[in-house]
Amino acid sequence: MAMQATPRPLHVLVTGAGGFVGRALVHRLLRAHAGGTRPLARLTTLDLTAGPDAAASPLDAVAGSIADPAVVQRAFAEPVDLVFHLASVPGGTAEQQYALGRDVNLHGTLHLLEACAAQAARGGPLPRFVFASTVGVFGAPLPPVVDDDTRPHPGMTYGTHKLMAEAAVADFTRRGGCDGLSLRLAGVLARPPAPTGQRSAFLSELLRAPAEGRDVVCPMSPEATTWASSTPNAVDNLLHAAHVPAAALPRSRALTLPALRFSMAELLDALVQRHGSAVRARVRFMPEPDIETLFGQQPPLHTPAASAAGFCDDGDLATLLQRATEPAHLEGHAP
Ligand SMILES: NC(=O)c1ccc[n+]([C@@H]2O[C@H](COP(=O)([O-])OP(=O)(O)OC[C@H]3O[C@@H](n4cnc5c(N)ncnc54)[C@H](O)[C@@H]3O)[C@@H](O)[C@H]2O)c1
Repeated sequence: MAMQATPRPLHVLVTGAGGFVGRALVHRLLRAHAGGTRPLARLTTLDLTAGPDAAASPLDAVAGSIADPAVVQRAFAEPVDLVFHLASVPGGTAEQQYALGRDVNLHGTLHLLEACAAQAARGGPLPRFVFASTVGVFGAPLPPVVDDDTRPHPGMTYGTHKLMAEAAVADFTRRGGCDGLSLRLAGVLARPPAPTGQRSAFLSELLRAPAEGRDVVCPMSPEATTWASSTPNAVDNLLHAAHVPAAALPRSRALTLPALRFSMAELLDALVQRHGSAVRARVRFMPEPDIETLFGQQPPLHTPAASAAGFCDDGDLATLLQRATEPAHLEGHAP
């Protein structure tokens, strides 16, 4: 029987490591390291503040803003093999605070790409650069179907800066400064309750509140359709991106990830299925037109390029709900 090669220990950098998806990703990386399936030479986290795990080996926490090139340089003090770039200012905040969104979502991404390129120019490793982009690059109104040929027309500054950063990831890849790809994520569920500036946060509350015996308002109509994935599914796809061969990627290096599409009525039915019929009376529909325009008019989504490259969605809504609300220590499988 052929022996399976143990992967080379990598130095992995996670930006936005203290955020919702970042924490789940770091947890999975540390678990795979501890289990020996994916040894880490070092795991550097970069966020505005160092998290509570900052002292845990092999973790090295850099606290500061990616808008500051000196902070980014600190994260590259040791050669980096793999970057997961998740740090960002959320859409609602970026719309209200243009300069902050520009400095972080656009300039911060450029600083990271430039650090990768400088490292490669010094003869260091060419980092794989996995950028968390968003389906928000498409903007509203969306066409009757979104697929790999749909042209992005961002409707908010957040999506515009993400699209500009996608172009930069492809350009730095072309120039030999990194080996990059951008993953356009749909809504990730279920975010812990906190005032975060994500206008889609109500979807996470819809998943949690009825299960916890609380009433909840859905700011979209029962017919409104949205795209989403569970946190473990998003982490699976990020980890897959670390190793997907360049030959499987389009020239743009940008992939819209598979996601489930469901209506609010279907979501309520699935919640009733999971938590019992009392849930139905706890959800009140009070549609807000701007929220519904942003998140509730999402048409069928076809992502053959990402599927061919091995990315996947949660499979069905019941699985999404189960995975979206399971505790972190049970999440996913070792990558
Ligand atoms: N969660 C979703 O539904 C979703 C959907 C599409 C795309 N995405 C993208 O995925 C990534 C992760 O999303 P998330 O939900 O975990 O976001 P999040 O807002 O929970 O976390 C982002 C993290 O970035 C950090 N950050 C902000 N500004 C920074 C700066 N200047 N320097 C360093 N760190 C900074 C924040 O402190 C935070 O910990 C983001 O890039 C987001 O745009 C998320």
